[in-house]
Amino acid sequence: MAHVKVFDTTLRDGEQSPGVNLNQLEKLEIAKQLERFGVDIMEAGFPASSQSEFHSVQTIARTIENASVTGLARAKKSDIDTAWEALKDAAEPRLHIFLATSPIHMTHKLQKTPQQVIETAVEMVSYARERFPQVEWSAEDACRSDLDFLVSIVERVIDAGATVINLPDTVGYTTPAEYGEMFRYIREHVPNIDQVSLSAHCHDDLGMAVANSLAAIENGATQIEGTINGIGERAGNASLEEIAVALTIRNNFYNFQTNLVLSEIKRTSDLVSKFTGMKVPRNKAVVGENAFAHESGIHQDGMLKNASTYEIITPEMVGIHKSNLVLGKHSGKHAFIDKINSLGYSLSEEKIKEAFASFKSLTDRKKEVTDEDLFTILTDVQTDSQELPKYKLETFQVQYGSQNIPTATVALTNPEGAREELAGTGRGSVEAIYNTLEGLIHEDIHLEDYRLNSIGEGRDALAEVHVRLTVNEVAVNGRGAAQDVLEASAHAFLNAVNRVLMDPKAYTKQTANI
Ligand code: KIV
Ligand code: ZN
Repeated sequence: MAHVKVFDTTLRDGEQSPGVNLNQLEKLEIAKQLERFGVDIMEAGFPASSQSEFHSVQTIARTIENASVTGLARAKKSDIDTAWEALKDAAEPRLHIFLATSPIHMTHKLQKTPQQVIETAVEMVSYARERFPQVEWSAEDACRSDLDFLVSIVERVIDAGATVINLPDTVGYTTPAEYGEMFRYIREHVPNIDQVSLSAHCHDDLGMAVANSLAAIENGATQIEGTINGIGERAGNASLEEIAVALTIRNNFYNFQTNLVLSEIKRTSDLVSKFTGMKVPRNKAVVGENAFAHESGIHQDGMLKNASTYEIITPEMVGIHKSNLVLGKHSGKHAFIDKINSLGYSLSEEKIKEAFASFKSLTDRKKEVTDEDLFTILTDVQTDSQELPKYKLETFQVQYGSQNIPTATVALTNPEGAREELAGTGRGSVEAIYNTLEGLIHEDIHLEDYRLNSIGEGRDALAEVHVRLTVNEVAVNGRGAAQDVLEASAHAFLNAVNRVLMDPKAYTKQTANI
């Protein structure tokens, strides 16, 4: 069976999703999970875009051993140099360099003639090859480019040393037949095409990103690019888990395999959804909550007789297991450590202590702690940077009555370690808490978005709140989980404030020039 490589860009194109901003610890955890998932290449970010992006790409490059780590660069020497500094310690460093080739981009964005674009691409690819053993070159907006121009530029950049040629559908414009045809044309007309791998990179503006990627594979692409849960710029990128499962389930048709470990899909999807705050739609293929739910009587009857009547993918295949009841009030530290090991976490002594304390306080209120609850506790602890001073919620109380003005009294410890307390009001309980927190924090804070989810099922399910704030004009996301909705709301607010106050530069997105 032929092999197709998987290039994940969740941490670069995915992170360009409107409203998403991940901190360095979250990016590192996602990178480690992508390694477990078995991606061949992961794009850790765009190192020249900011100091904080540089550090996070560098940390990922130094940590990941079983995948090639790459970073994006514009066709500029300074971007390439910065990317090399960030990536040089990677097990298999690789550069992803791009330049637009469509008339619309060359004229209006680059303001260069086609000849100048060829010269720049050739010069920058050969400059990059002086450092990087692997250089992928992307013809941005390939699908709206002239095919014969693409043939000439691709031939030239291969001569200049590119090892992978990527033909992105940057604006999600193409159809499967057209995209497949473009790959076929390039393969048949570029004389040195056998020296490189061909890669597909699709956006989902018309809902065809996955179908387009599969069409590219049928027509000679040996690498596909995409993101977990299909997150990304505008309508997103091709969803890697959908492509992987399609290649497996319809193996009789495609006859291609990947290195992906399908049973890691659920966990990878959950982690990305939690950290980005982008909830997976219930009806999304492969990872949506309803993907394995059967509502109609006829379907249920069929399922009971034989699951394959209505289910082409099994939940187990993608790592969904029946919710195990795991630990409870009487579980000790050993059982807890065994469980976290079996869930694949490796935490320091300090973090285990912190996680165990959160687990114990949860068991005071919740009889049965499920894997989903533990996933929340453990990922939160894992990405909590303990060393940095921050605001910490001590106590809060809310008075609410349908005829009264909701009032909150909140006590917190500030980053200097002093305890402060204040009471405030609002039109509802959450607003009363947020107004009071704003009074205690003395920064210019605005709430832009608030979302509430439940983790798992049942009356005692954990509440998870995602907020989007601007703090001193810097946009930042925060999340908090607790058994009580109001407590989760307070934690999410403080989580966002702490992130931005600890590292304001990290949240100033600099993707405008991509
Ligand atoms: O969609 C696109 O064209 C990109 C490039 C940077 C490869 O993401
Ligand atoms: Zn893209």
